[in-house]
Amino acid sequence: MKLKDTGKSAADIKALISKYMIETYERYDFLCERAEGIYLYDEKGQAYLDFYGGIAVNSAGSRNPKVVAAAKDQLDDVIHTFNYPYLIPQALLAEKICTTLGYEKIFYQNSGTEANEAMIKMARKYGIEKYGPNRYHIISAKESFHGRSFGALSATGQPNSACHRGFGPMLPGFNYAEFNNLDDFASQVTGDTIAIMLEPIQGEGGVHLATPEFLKGIRKLCDEKGLLLLIDEIQTGWCRTGEVMGYMHYGVKPDIVSMAKALGGGFPISAICTNSEIAAAFNMGSHGTTYGGNSVCCAAALAQITELLDKNMAANAKETGDYFMEKLRSLPRVKNVRGKGLLVGVELDGPIGLAVKHNCLDRKFLVTLIGDRLIRMIPPLTVTKTDCDKACALLAESIDAVKS
Ligand SMILES: Cc1ncc(COP(=O)(O)O)c(C=O)c1O
Repeated sequence: MKLKDTGKSAADIKALISKYMIETYERYDFLCERAEGIYLYDEKGQAYLDFYGGIAVNSAGSRNPKVVAAAKDQLDDVIHTFNYPYLIPQALLAEKICTTLGYEKIFYQNSGTEANEAMIKMARKYGIEKYGPNRYHIISAKESFHGRSFGALSATGQPNSACHRGFGPMLPGFNYAEFNNLDDFASQVTGDTIAIMLEPIQGEGGVHLATPEFLKGIRKLCDEKGLLLLIDEIQTGWCRTGEVMGYMHYGVKPDIVSMAKALGGGFPISAICTNSEIAAAFNMGSHGTTYGGNSVCCAAALAQITELLDKNMAANAKETGDYFMEKLRSLPRVKNVRGKGLLVGVELDGPIGLAVKHNCLDRKFLVTLIGDRLIRMIPPLTVTKTDCDKACALLAESIDAVKS
């Protein structure tokens, strides 16, 4: 939709949103009318350099032409039917994902939260059916983020955060252990534990990387104790970190993996993959979804991941990410730069993150803030070193402009 066709002003649109919408995020104070590549454009055609990429979604660039063409083609054939007929985009996407990642089975959902919900449900049912009624407990990491439904939220190891507070008790069967502390995880395993659930890099929790010893140790622990390793690749998956999946940096393979965000290139699709034995926990009627596997989303996702893989965007994420992080380390007031590929966290030396984020916006540069001092950047994987130079200069100016 174009503003000029609505008979309204940008101020009218903002007023309608604040009047009618339940707002749970601080908005960037501009109207986005168009998005393309690594830029968003307002109604006046002014460009904003996008280093948040729809929160790690627009990995092949906003409105990647291949994704747009695939979705448009599919709109002319089938939009939605529910999962009763056999559907071409579902089949081709399933084959592409399973053969690329080396899994036997896939289940489609719509969002990261739902993929994790499915992963949790599958692990619990597998455990109960195989070992007995109490074997459904899952250990996840402190400071993890797995989503906002009650299952995914219960797995989210942030009991004192705003996303947990005020919603009453979480589900039974979840424990939290310290990320990167193998002993803590091992000590919490009981006869009722069925799985360990982790992000390879904690994104929302502040860009913290699993150490190789930790993730390899967790895999070994799972093998020894008959536990499933559940890896949440919602933010890290599909080339973001310099490998197709984050776990690939570690030489481990999860028993179930969840994915979303970059998978759909802006269309709401997510999935879990696993082997046939574990997948058998989901039998007729045990789980389902109206929209999961939607034809347009599957067609778009197939184009999106084909583009990411064919253009070797994992390699670009690695090379450009390393270059970017090195440059960021030399900026003033930067205490620490951490990340992998183009999942980058810049820790400032004090609680100036909000001011820096606002100064970035003043310069038409879009970043995300975690807590009060971590600037996170998760741009499209199509960014070049020149784009990163520009981002560095804008961030330096934005830090400089903080008055304290
Ligand atoms: C690691 C991880 N898991 C799950 C989610 C939830 O995904 P969604 O917002 O699509 O439900 C997110 C979202 O940021 C995430 O980063």
